[in-house]
Order: sequence, then C-alpha cells, then structure tokens
Amino acid sequence: MDTKIAILDENNIDENIINEAGIVIAEGGLVVFPTETVYGLGANALDEIAVEKIFKAKGRPQDNPLIVHVANFNIEPLVKEVPHIAREIMTRFWPGPITLIFNKSDLIPETTSAGLNTVGIRMPSNLIARKLIELANTPIAAPSANISGRPSPTDVESCVQDLSGKVEYILGGDKSEVGLESTIVDCTCTPLCILRPGAITIEMLREIDKDIYVDKSIMGKPNEDFKPKAPGMKYRHYAPKSPVKIVCGDLEKTVAKINEIVQNNIGNKKIGIIATEETKNNYHGGTVISLGSRKNLDNVARNLFEVLRSFDDIDVDLILSEAFEEKGIGVAIMNRLKKSAGFDIIYV
Ligand code: TXA
Ligand code: MG
Repeated sequence: MDTKIAILDENNIDENIINEAGIVIAEGGLVVFPTETVYGLGANALDEIAVEKIFKAKGRPQDNPLIVHVANFNIEPLVKEVPHIAREIMTRFWPGPITLIFNKSDLIPETTSAGLNTVGIRMPSNLIARKLIELANTPIAAPSANISGRPSPTDVESCVQDLSGKVEYILGGDKSEVGLESTIVDCTCTPLCILRPGAITIEMLREIDKDIYVDKSIMGKPNEDFKPKAPGMKYRHYAPKSPVKIVCGDLEKTVAKINEIVQNNIGNKKIGIIATEETKNNYHGGTVISLGSRKNLDNVARNLFEVLRSFDDIDVDLILSEAFEEKGIGVAIMNRLKKSAGFDIIYV
C-alpha cells in the first residue's frame, strides 16, 4: 500500500491536510497521528472492519483492547455511565495524558474492546490529534504506532520505520511532549485503580481519590498469579532488539557495577549504556547514551523510547541501564524500563 506522509507545523496547523486524513478514517482506513504521549495508529473506533486493520498492521494480539480517543466531553453514548469521580478526573486532566476505563455501551464493537465489556477513553491535548478526531467525525481507536512489542514511537521517523506501507496516511508533528503512554485508571471499581502509570502521577490522582492504588501486577515480575487488568501489560514490551539489564541502587555503586561488567565483558559483547548527564562521563567503555539530567525526570521520560530505539540502529549485544527513583513520573519511567528489560534487574 502507498503511504502518504505529511509533516505539519504544530504551531500553524494546515487543516486541509488533517481533513484529508480525516476522510481516510471516515472511510475505514488507517492514519498515524501525533499525540502528546506517543504517536497513535488510528481507525474509526466504531467500525469493526477498520479496527481489525489496526491489529493486522501492528501484529497486535487479538486479546489486547484499544483506547478510544475523543475530542469532546460528551462520552455518554460510548459508555454505560460516567461515575462522579471519573467526571472529576476528566474535568481536571482532560484534554491530557490520561485514559479512563468505563463499562462500555453497545456502540463500541467487540473488536475495539477485545471482547471486554469495558472501554478505555482519552481526550488527547495534542491539537492535530483533536482536529483529526473532529474532522473524521467519529471517535478514533488508537494504540501506539509501533510494531507490537517495540518501544512506542515518539517521533514521526519511528512511525515511518515501523508502519510505512501498512497505513494510508502518516501525519507528522513534533516530538511527543510526554514521551510515555497515558496513565490508565480503572473507573469501574472503588477505590479507583491505576492500570498503567504515566505523566498524570499517583500523587496527582490522590488529590481526587485518596485511596487510589496501583494494580499490584504492574511493577513486579510476572508470575503464576500475575493477571494485569490491562491485558497489554502482560506482554513483553518496549523492547529493543538486544536484551536490556537494569542496574538498580546507589548511583556510585551503579556506575561501578556497570564499569565492572563492561571491563569483564564476557563474550566480547558490544555493550550500550543508558546513562544520565550526571554519570555519562564516568564510564570507561561501551556506547554511552544519556537520557538527560536526573534533575528533570520529565525530560528523561520524553527521551526514553527514543534512546531505546537508537540502540537498535547501532546494533549492540547488551544494554545496561541506570535506574530511577519510583516517585512521581519515575514510577512510569521504571515501569517501561523494567518491561523492556523483562524484569532483569541487578541490585547493587
Ligand atoms: O498514550 C496512549 O495511551 C497512547 C496514545 C496513542 O494515545 N495509546 C496507547 O495505546 O498507549 P496502546 O494500545 O499501546 O496501549 C493501551 C493499553 C494496553 O495495555 C491495553 O491492554 C490497555 O491500554 N487497555 C485498553 N483498553 C482497556 C480496557 N478496557 N481495560 C483494561 N485495559 C485496557
Ligand atoms: Mg502500545
């Protein structure tokens, strides 16, 4: 399939181009578009046949439901009810990087919800995304625009790499502002439960529901009892081609441990190191890439997937990564890092 690619200036959006892409969605095609979290691969959420194409293009497991993106607060037709507390979260954080899970109405096809009777809904803040939804005149189902299992794309080049030839249209914008996928909150239970950590942190959500908690299966290694409520969280994910190991603990000891592994280098491997501004000059070997300063974790989050992907381009055999404190957006950063490492962690 020929893929049309258009790069838009986010400060001066060309609505004619978005309208063209909107028609593709309305006619049952696939469009890649920017959001503030990561790029999305969109189709008409209410059109079963269109949604099936998303699963095919990504190689996505059939049991993994899609998030439905909307451009206004009138979500009543899509859901059974909007609990009062969910309305409060929407008022505070929408448009923005948070998805809420509701009991779904019959308008949402089984393919979109992967057979569940719930649906995740999010109103993105990115203006191209919202304009696309408006002009397509339908809610848009959109997973991250990567081949299943790979790190989510935070720039248009990564989307082209993964999906060119598999979609009708790729709309490009700026590098994603947040860089990690939306926080997911299950609003069908009391207290509320966080199914995936993101830029809207547990600390922020506690101001609305003081009892909100993080689904236990999220931060730990999968085991027999591991049954995450977000089906997608059980899959190996965010993974570059080479294995990732996280070194976790005191920063000086972390650097020493990584240097020791690089020096011993059993099997003469090509080693990549995920470092930070504070440590990047302290390594004596390996290919070092910095995520940015530890003083700005928002920026670390923004760079994480891009850095994971860039190790694929330079073809290393092993990636060693520093860890981050699991506080604020650090929870989301560590969640993605641990999953990319398959929970392979060395504690120092
Ligand atoms: O930031 C984001 O959410 C991005 C952008 C494009 O909006 N989208 C995204 O979609 O990350 P995806 O498909 O890559 O991740 C969606 C996650 C999966 O883990 C899925 O299992 C979970 O959301 N999910 C979707 N619907 C759900 C539901 N009804 N119940 C529980 N989990 C759900
Ligand atoms: Mg994804």
